[in-house]
Amino acid sequence: MASASSSSLLYFLAFLLIIIVFHLLLKLVRLSTHVIKKEKKKKSSYAGDELPLPPGTMGWPYIGETFQLYSQNPNVFFASKQRKYGPIFKTHVLGCPCIMISSPEAAKFVLVNRAHLFKPTFPASKERILGPQALFFHQGEYHAKLRKLVSRAFMPDSLKHMVSSVEAIALDSLGSWEARSGLINTFQEMKTYAFNVALLSIFGKDETKYGEELKSCYYILEKGYNSMPINLPGTLFHNSMKARKELARILSKIILSRRQRKLEDEDYNDLLGSFMGDKTSSLTDEQIADNIIGVIFAARDTTASVLTWILKFLGENPSVLKAVTEEQEYVARNYKERCDEGLCWADTKKMPVTSRVIQETLRVASILSFTFREAVEDVEYQGYLIPKGWKVLPLFRNIHHSPEIFTDPDKFDPSRFEVAPKPNTFMPFGNGSHSCPGNELAKLEILVLIHHLTTKYRWSSMGQQNGIQYAPFPLPINGLPIRLSLKPTSPHQFL
Ligand code: HEM
Repeated sequence: MASASSSSLLYFLAFLLIIIVFHLLLKLVRLSTHVIKKEKKKKSSYAGDELPLPPGTMGWPYIGETFQLYSQNPNVFFASKQRKYGPIFKTHVLGCPCIMISSPEAAKFVLVNRAHLFKPTFPASKERILGPQALFFHQGEYHAKLRKLVSRAFMPDSLKHMVSSVEAIALDSLGSWEARSGLINTFQEMKTYAFNVALLSIFGKDETKYGEELKSCYYILEKGYNSMPINLPGTLFHNSMKARKELARILSKIILSRRQRKLEDEDYNDLLGSFMGDKTSSLTDEQIADNIIGVIFAARDTTASVLTWILKFLGENPSVLKAVTEEQEYVARNYKERCDEGLCWADTKKMPVTSRVIQETLRVASILSFTFREAVEDVEYQGYLIPKGWKVLPLFRNIHHSPEIFTDPDKFDPSRFEVAPKPNTFMPFGNGSHSCPGNELAKLEILVLIHHLTTKYRWSSMGQQNGIQYAPFPLPINGLPIRLSLKPTSPHQFL
């Protein structure tokens, strides 16, 4: 009996122990889930469900505020929202909830410090046209690999060898404008110039062989870029997709011919050479094609718009034009004395006045007014919630036109760049891992064209209107029609 009661006591104690252990385990599990949750929150920089969204309005269901954005100059929409709500506000445009940010700190947070939490984002139709494997659409390892190859082709060491070829393209362009009685549409002509330089940087000396074929396809492709993405025969989008396939076919042909000639051990310093030469990266032909089409797209209209604005601003500011011309004449005298054939890389580094004109044009015109990212998880920024999946738009233009950062911001005044701007306040080429790898090439081709333009030609605007059009970058109205003529006192004096 005693043994029976002691054994039942033992059973009871064992049972109690199991309950206690179970209870403790439960507590432990609860505690660790809590800690993990806390850690996760810390990692996602999201402090809790109670965080408010930034101020702002979301407009109508689905349509949001798209109409308000596009019924006026988009910059008026951004500026008025910023005045009302401050540097971070929410809205809903083009079917997406968005958070717009317009302070240097917030732009740095999204593009640099927490870049991994914000992926680049484009409409699917644009990805299909340019090529889904182009670097703009990616993050992480694949992006870093491409970035290395692209940057290698556009770094100063590679560009140094291109100066005289860029110069030949500039002289050719100016000569052809003059031959047409000097009456030109600046933006259209600058697009051709920028296209030719882009092809040179991609294909080097092969550019002349394939240039025309590539151009005619690219022109069809770009017409469908901003069209309705309806892939039915006869639509612009359909034609664009067909032109894209044709472009990929031409590019495969070029790649094959390079592979065959590579056997003869030729060296290529151009972008295609960089893509094909790297044994470790081993890109497919399709990846190379997508990235070449992407680079042409990124390089052409951007540079052409900036050049168009430079001509407009120089035309409107005679004292600045005089200072630029004097600087360029000095450079020309120097290379004449050296008995050189023309500009070299070192000459382009001795153009501080012209470089400041480029900087000020990039600031005032801010041709890329903003860029798009998408939050990959819930993110906290300064007490606000940026929800996962929402678009985030750093507004470059608002930063470049902030009176707190640039005094009298709407005034064209290149001398303001005699003092370097504060970090993260001047981002015409973006910031962080997706910033523009072609910025040195863009500056080089602008300097070379301005050199020959100001030393040999004069020009005047043909239009009376003073407006801005969006195509999609801001441009002087009608692309700035001008009349260009050789300077009477110095016909070909520097040639
Ligand atoms: C003045 C002319 C140009 C301006 C203002 C400009 C501006 C920009 C900006 C702001 C970005 C970053 C976009 C973002 O973060 O979402 C960018 C990216 C890019 N740009 Fe440019 N760009 C110019 C010329 C060029 C040229 C000449 C090339 C090539 C030769 C080029 C190639 C690229 C590429 C490939 C990217 C994507 C980089 C990446 O995603 O990693 N750009 N550009």
